[in-house]
Amino acid sequence: MKKKFLIANWKMNLNPRQSQAVAASYVKRIQSSSSVTTILCPSFTSLQGVIATVNRTSHVSVGSQDCFWKSSGSYTGEESPLVLSALGVRFVIVGHSERRIHLGESDAVVRLKVQSIMQDAKLVPILCIGENGTQKKSGKTFSILTNQLKTAFDGIQTIKQCLVAYEPIWAIGSGNPIVPADSKKISTWIREYLRGRFNSRIASVTPILYGGSVDVTNAHSIITEGGVDGLLVGSASLDAKQLAMLHDAIKSR
Ligand code: PGA
Repeated sequence: MKKKFLIANWKMNLNPRQSQAVAASYVKRIQSSSSVTTILCPSFTSLQGVIATVNRTSHVSVGSQDCFWKSSGSYTGEESPLVLSALGVRFVIVGHSERRIHLGESDAVVRLKVQSIMQDAKLVPILCIGENGTQKKSGKTFSILTNQLKTAFDGIQTIKQCLVAYEPIWAIGSGNPIVPADSKKISTWIREYLRGRFNSRIASVTPILYGGSVDVTNAHSIITEGGVDGLLVGSASLDAKQLAMLHDAIKSR
């Protein structure tokens, strides 16, 4: 069976002690399962503690919410993908809409980060793409997604490992998730895009995820009917019990 993914994006929530407590409680609650990989993404300052907490739990990994696109140098306040790798981070979220909106991150910056994550640090990017509500209403969803994917992979010959998360901005934090039929349509389109841009093998092995107002009431239908290999969850991932319920919803697919 193809592996499923549950990504917990804790954003700028939970201090180091709270992050470790949620991680420890989550690990205790889930049965050892090889069919779901959980990726906990705490803030930078909590990474080390969470890595120590999930240490030796083979199906729980730790990801960073961002990184810079250079390995070292005079970049005050930034975090190097190589340093993240040395810490034990394996995945990096890149291009999240909150960074695009609040930090002005462009598609071109996302591309630099994707390259650095994959090529310099040999980490796995979780590339977030998605349109906003206005773009959706004006029928621009696929042209926005095309631009985001085209730029993010510009100059990249092949992908060893990458996750693509479709996260429509209108769904994030709105309580208004995608309907599974639309998720299916978009995930199929993303797979076709990857087939055309790379090849059939990459298209079939690249996990495609959905994110945006996922919770325990909708996770099962999105994962069973939405054509996706996993879910990227924000607010519903902050509580260990809910996160474990999301895990079980994905597992019992
Ligand atoms: P949400 O956030 O689950 O709180 O909508 C998802 C995300 O931004 O990744």
